[in-house]
Amino acid sequence: MTEIYVGDVRLHVPNQGFGPALLLVHGFPLDHTMWRHQIRQFAGKYKVLAPDLRGFGASDISPGTVTMEDYADDMAALLDALRVDKVVFCGLSMGGYIAFQFAKHYPDRLAGLILCDTRAVPDTPEAAQNREALAAKVLKEGTSALAEDMMKKLFAPATLESGSDEIASIRAVMENARPEGVAAALRGLAARPDSRELLGQIEVPTLVIVGEHDAISPPDEMKAIADAIPGAEFLLVEGAGHMAPLEKPEPVNAAIGAFLEKHAKA
Ligand code: MLT
Repeated sequence: MTEIYVGDVRLHVPNQGFGPALLLVHGFPLDHTMWRHQIRQFAGKYKVLAPDLRGFGASDISPGTVTMEDYADDMAALLDALRVDKVVFCGLSMGGYIAFQFAKHYPDRLAGLILCDTRAVPDTPEAAQNREALAAKVLKEGTSALAEDMMKKLFAPATLESGSDEIASIRAVMENARPEGVAAALRGLAARPDSRELLGQIEVPTLVIVGEHDAISPPDEMKAIADAIPGAEFLLVEGAGHMAPLEKPEPVNAAIGAFLEKHAKA
């Protein structure tokens, strides 16, 4: 485990293994535990960094608004602190929005990009307004209502019906998420920029992964992202929803493993 300070904010950065670096950036409103299968699989061969973003997990909160650029700056700061030059940046959903900002601002730190279940489009004005309203609600009433609503969006129906321990643990992560951290991220999500222009300028090897039943970032939209990034590979994960790396770790790890073999650099 590593703790890193960015200014006076302490980030909790589970950090395992040695070798070329793989940075795993979680989605909203989760923490590093969503990557448990990838941490276990890849820490034998790579240096796996799986931070809790500011405001989530065991990291400190910065209230107000935390933008996708802010989170990307945190990722660059933690690489500096750990003296890691280049990473394969793997982000899911909000982690993907952060990956786009990282690719924009720190292109020379990237050995490769893995985009899981994410979107390049910004929020519509209505979606942004809903996020503002949700931020106010979470601050007033806590995160339980959010957890209830998110569960149906995150997982494929069959995964939810399986009633696995993993499902319960993700629900617990959301219920335990701290309202100020969640609200700050919601405001940042509402303000996130359009990343479509950036796609054609991405010059590093890229792998795009999406669950067949992803209700938040549907396969067609992710295929369009892959088509717009020069040379990108695309994996459709059968039977998975928005949480493909957690729901179907075997095909996801096979694709990530093959990608790392080719592109991860010490
Ligand atoms: C996520 O999984 O990170 C969120 O669902 C992203 C979003 O709400 O846009």
